Amino acid sequence: MFSASLPTLALAVLAPSLVAKATAEICNSNDDFVHFNSSKTVALPALSNNGPMLNQDPHTQWYFSTRTVYTSPHADAMTKMWLNTGNSSTKDIGTCWHTTWTHERDGFAFPRDVLERSVDDKGDCKTMLGEECVAGLKRHYLDAAMRSAQSASCQGDVFNATVPHECAGLVGGGTVWRGGLFGSGTRLDSALNETRLADEGCPDDAVAVNSSIHGGSGTGASYNQTVRFPQPYFLTFWPNRTHDPASAGLESDYVHVELLCLRTDDIEEGSPVPPSAKEILNGPDVKYMGNASGGADGPGSTGGAAAMRTMAPYMGAAAIAGLLL
Ligand SMILES: *[C@@H]1O[C@H](CO)[C@@H](O)[C@H](O)[C@H]1NC(C)=O
Ligand SMILES: *[C@@H]1O[C@H](CO)[C@@H](O)[C@H](O)[C@H]1NC(C)=O
Ligand SMILES: *[C@@H]1O[C@H](CO)[C@@H](O)[C@H](O)[C@H]1NC(C)=O
Ligand SMILES: *[C@@H]1O[C@H](CO)[C@@H](O)[C@H](O)[C@H]1NC(C)=O
Ligand SMILES: *[C@@H]1O[C@H](CO)[C@@H](O)[C@H](O)[C@H]1NC(C)=O
Ligand SMILES: *[C@@H]1O[C@H](CO)[C@@H](O)[C@H](O)[C@H]1NC(C)=O
Ligand SMILES: *[C@@H]1O[C@H](CO)[C@@H](O)[C@H](O)[C@H]1NC(C)=O
Ligand SMILES: *[C@@H]1O[C@H](CO)[C@@H](O)[C@H](O)[C@H]1NC(C)=O
Repeated sequence: MFSASLPTLALAVLAPSLVAKATAEICNSNDDFVHFNSSKTVALPALSNNGPMLNQDPHTQWYFSTRTVYTSPHADAMTKMWLNTGNSSTKDIGTCWHTTWTHERDGFAFPRDVLERSVDDKGDCKTMLGEECVAGLKRHYLDAAMRSAQSASCQGDVFNATVPHECAGLVGGGTVWRGGLFGSGTRLDSALNETRLADEGCPDDAVAVNSSIHGGSGTGASYNQTVRFPQPYFLTFWPNRTHDPASAGLESDYVHVELLCLRTDDIEEGSPVPPSAKEILNGPDVKYMGNASGGADGPGSTGGAAAMRTMAPYMGAAAIAGLLL
């Protein structure tokens, strides 16, 4: 049940016919991992697949990174998702990644009060989206992860774009994110490493990464806002249970969910430094989506919505490579 204005991107691009053409994209796909203008990298628990369920490996960590590339002349930015699984065995571990825009080229997709408090978020979304919404999202994505485990897929009824009711106040009382929901999948059992590039016959100037880097899709927005305001990322990790007997059962503690609100404010030396979040919010012509419920305009407000549903999502080469690996 997708509304017409809901960008569902990415997963639809997972067409087998693209695989044969993907070599050029794969050779270039590490570029934006190595060359970027701002980023945020967080450590996640490393996971291992022990029989029916995922376990955390206490000896090592994985790293999730959002990396923003500044694109002139419109001061736009492309932010892509990356996961580094280091030396871990990722056999039979699957993952699905979702994100919703905080800012599009022509305005914010959240109410002003959400944006104001988002700058204090510690990365776990609890300040930006609120504890209740985060609890609802946790339930929502544990459910999605269990479905993925059974189908080894990020698509079909796994892709449920309805926001949990606890989050309704953030979306004007509606049922979908006003910044849309973007889905991305990546195979963890095939990394964008030196071996992979060599196997693809990539030219010598292809950027090799000596680790297990997995690329996801990207979202584009204005650079200044991208650096200063967090964007929500919802990640599921699940054991591939397609070869297990269905009777083995599936519990929510067999799977793993990460809810992250990350802004790419680790700015590379020499790269543009945007104004502060406060300066951006108080700037002229700033467009945002009313206030959250409880404000004077209350639930159901669609202030600014009409002006905002314009920009289509797009994916970079890394996204395509990430999806096809
Ligand atoms: C990965 O394994 C190699 C060889 O065993 C080791 O040199 C390297 O330090 C390991 N890297 C990490 C991040 O553990
Ligand atoms: C899940 O397992 C099936 C059967 O072994 C395999 O064909 C499929 O590629 C696996 N998928 C993932 C995402 O691991
Ligand atoms: C989709 O997600 C919403 C919000 O979490 C939930 O209420 C609903 O039951 C889900 N739909 C399906 C078909 O699982
Ligand atoms: C590179 O990734 C491939 C899978 O794509 C894996 O088989 C190989 O061990 C990896 N090599 C290194 C050096 O990490
Ligand atoms: C890449 O990593 C592998 C395994 O950890 C190691 O054998 C190799 O020397 C590394 N290559 C470079 C260029 O660092
Ligand atoms: C963004 O980063 C790239 C790669 O490091 C760099 O070449 C470029 O000059 C940076 N852009 C700006 C506007 O500073
Ligand atoms: C972004 O911030 C810079 C530095 O303050 C400013 O010069 C530029 O006009 C801003 N860009 C946009 C598109 O607002
Ligand atoms: C929206 O929230 C801001 C601060 O969070 C407040 O100053 C403003 O009065 C609110 N506007 C409405 C219409 O509720």
